[in-house]
Amino acid sequence: MTRKDFPPDFIWGTATASYQIEGADSEAGKGPSIWTAFSHAPGKIYQGHTGDLACDHYHRYKEDVSLLASLGANAYRFSISWPRLFPEGRGARNQKGFDFYARLIDVLIANGIQPFITLYHWDLPLELQKSIGGWESRDITAYFGDYAEAVFSSYGDRVKNWITLNEPFCSSHLSYLFGEHAPGKSDLKESFAVAHNLLRSHGEAVRRFRSTIKDGTVGLSNVSQWVEPASDSPEDGEAAKLLNQFFNDWFYVTPLKGEYPVDFSQRLDKIGAMPEIQPEDMELIMEPVDFWGVNYYSRIIAKADPKSEFGYNTVPGDLERTAMGWEIYPKGLQLFLERAYREYGEKPLYITENGMAEDDELEEGSVHDKKRTIYLRDHFDAASKAMNNSVDLKGYFVWSLMDNFEWAHGYSKRFGLIYTDYENNQRRIPKDSYYWFRDFLRR
Ligand code: FCB
Repeated sequence: MTRKDFPPDFIWGTATASYQIEGADSEAGKGPSIWTAFSHAPGKIYQGHTGDLACDHYHRYKEDVSLLASLGANAYRFSISWPRLFPEGRGARNQKGFDFYARLIDVLIANGIQPFITLYHWDLPLELQKSIGGWESRDITAYFGDYAEAVFSSYGDRVKNWITLNEPFCSSHLSYLFGEHAPGKSDLKESFAVAHNLLRSHGEAVRRFRSTIKDGTVGLSNVSQWVEPASDSPEDGEAAKLLNQFFNDWFYVTPLKGEYPVDFSQRLDKIGAMPEIQPEDMELIMEPVDFWGVNYYSRIIAKADPKSEFGYNTVPGDLERTAMGWEIYPKGLQLFLERAYREYGEKPLYITENGMAEDDELEEGSVHDKKRTIYLRDHFDAASKAMNNSVDLKGYFVWSLMDNFEWAHGYSKRFGLIYTDYENNQRRIPKDSYYWFRDFLRR
């Protein structure tokens, strides 16, 4: 399989996120984010790691873009740090922040690499958390809209593809239910209220996009788990349906139909945890997107469990696992894409993230990441099978360009095509998977 097995205009790239790679966290006028505070709080992140320096991409972006160019990528997905542009989230602009992304965009375009920009990949300005409670407040929607509009009007002349939010599932439930991500709370009701405000804010950004930008596309990138029932029993089938609604449909179907998935909503309702829906909220959430961004890594298996709060549980499968402990299941990508295309409105799809963590070791200047290479080959193959079954897949972004700050795992999990040598001044060392991908793209 080579690039020729995909359409000539297929988008091939890699993905990153601002807090995970940029560093320069308090430099050049940037304000702190909720991740600045969270990573500095004791006990939250593996060995107390922070994103203060990360990959130092803020200073090394030119080198990173040339690595992308040598790879043969024609696109790059990255996110903008809201507090780099607006240190307090609203009000005063930080011109140096705007200039940084303008330089990055220009150097990408000069290298024939199309930018795909995510507006929000989890680094909320800390000041908004402190003053209004961040995503807990309905007021966040207007502020996010203003931020989005400022970004669209600054770069919309050159950037044609936009993603409003990355994985609202994570910025609500990992942050507000499981407590693993900033701001680290555990409250079911609040978590769903946050999800509701994230979806409203997504809709607001789409609205601002339509009024600011005439040519271009906008979408939403979601957690995309392939959910399987543990058995053929009707009970496990029901468990899989509920789990699908929780992980996937909540953020895919709601913007499409303007209604939260029924079965899961009923369960939430019973325990008083449904978010409050005000008139016109759904109209806003339903602002039509041009595409869906699919972030696929693995599958989960659902089993009925009458004793648990929602009537189901997840059970471990027996496939080979990555260093994250996630099962490797390329077929799940094909199945997910086919289901997503069918059930989420037959919209164009992009794989906006896919990749794996491996325990990479630097050996005499090389990294032989064989598992990652096979993982990518098999997932590319799965994507091509979905396309043969009429899924309108337009592009594929590998997570990630380089090893970076993997949230609560700090620097302990490596997802990159490029090894980041944290011990040696963040030196970049392309891994074997990078060369494999380069040859795939060249051949
Ligand atoms: C996704 C996140 C991304 C990265 C990968 C491994 O959920 O969007 O930032 O952490 O997982």
